[in-house]
Amino acid sequence: MSVIVTATASVNIAVIKYWGKRDEELILPLNDSISATLDTNVMCARTSVCARPDIEENEMYLNGIKTSFDNKRLQTCLNKIKAIATLQKVVDKEFLSWNVRICSENNFPTAAGLASSAAGYACLVTALAKLYKIESDISQLARLGSGSACRSVFGGFVRWHAGGKCDGSDSTASQIVQSTHWPEMRVLVLVVADKKKHTSSSIGMKRSVESSELLKYRVEHCVPRRVDEMINAIKGKDFQRFAELTMKDSNQFHAVCLDSYPPFHYLTNVSYKIIDVIHKYNEICKETRVAYTFDAGPNACLFLLEKDVPEVLSLIKYIFPSPNTDYVRGLDVPKAEEENTFET
Ligand code: DP6
Repeated sequence: MSVIVTATASVNIAVIKYWGKRDEELILPLNDSISATLDTNVMCARTSVCARPDIEENEMYLNGIKTSFDNKRLQTCLNKIKAIATLQKVVDKEFLSWNVRICSENNFPTAAGLASSAAGYACLVTALAKLYKIESDISQLARLGSGSACRSVFGGFVRWHAGGKCDGSDSTASQIVQSTHWPEMRVLVLVVADKKKHTSSSIGMKRSVESSELLKYRVEHCVPRRVDEMINAIKGKDFQRFAELTMKDSNQFHAVCLDSYPPFHYLTNVSYKIIDVIHKYNEICKETRVAYTFDAGPNACLFLLEKDVPEVLSLIKYIFPSPNTDYVRGLDVPKAEEENTFET
């Protein structure tokens, strides 16, 4: 007897960044954040979980390679979901005692600032919740794996509410609009480097919380206003406003990294060149047609409308003759979804 469940989830790109935790254990953020979830098939993670009585110990495979299960966040997610299943009495005790084999695959660079952990944990908890048949807020469970993962549980534009409770019960994500609300929106992902980042998000944000005065200012004075303005821009499909806020928030996040002590940085010369090119292009167009944003890595995500994709893509290919420029179509993903479940 074995039970296998498979789920997929997509990468999300933050337009108002999450940076800084108020609780490291529960992964509770200092501020609300907003992101867009990409198409399922383009940049996604796929996870299968198999439970069988003859698996001797829990196993984890990442892109086909066996990796250690000795990962605190992975264990937290599994234990939490099993605890909920025990409380809800939805599966029998014997099934809960079986070990699991988790196989996860990404079709994009892991840990290069392309939110691989977000997609990875979003589909891991979706698959585990399905395996143990629990009724729970998947977003909150995904958050225990990686903060940004709670947003990949939904498609379209998503807000992660920081919440205020100590137990994290109100720190959850919700959809602002479905992807169909703004069907012309496109994202170009420019892979500047696909190496693992030198300062992980968790370590970087801890250092920022401990040392950056700019982060305090950002959390108190900038983000609350930006979140409201961003939601209005998204709902009103105001690309100019959306783009300006996205770029300013990305720049402020990277300024916080430099304001931390000791400082750290994710952007490279190529990243800065992309920033300059986009501002020059918008200036020549006499309107903002493209917005860049960078997470904890040098890779750029460009937001633009479908009508402008051919011209911008030609420009990028002309200025950066041999980059790995992937064209990511659309933002059309309803939610991290269970793909197939079968019992043998
Ligand atoms: C820059 O979610 O990777 O991408 O919660 O420690 O796992 P942990 O951090 P993570 O941080 C993402 C930071 C960011 C901004 C964002 O996605 O909002």
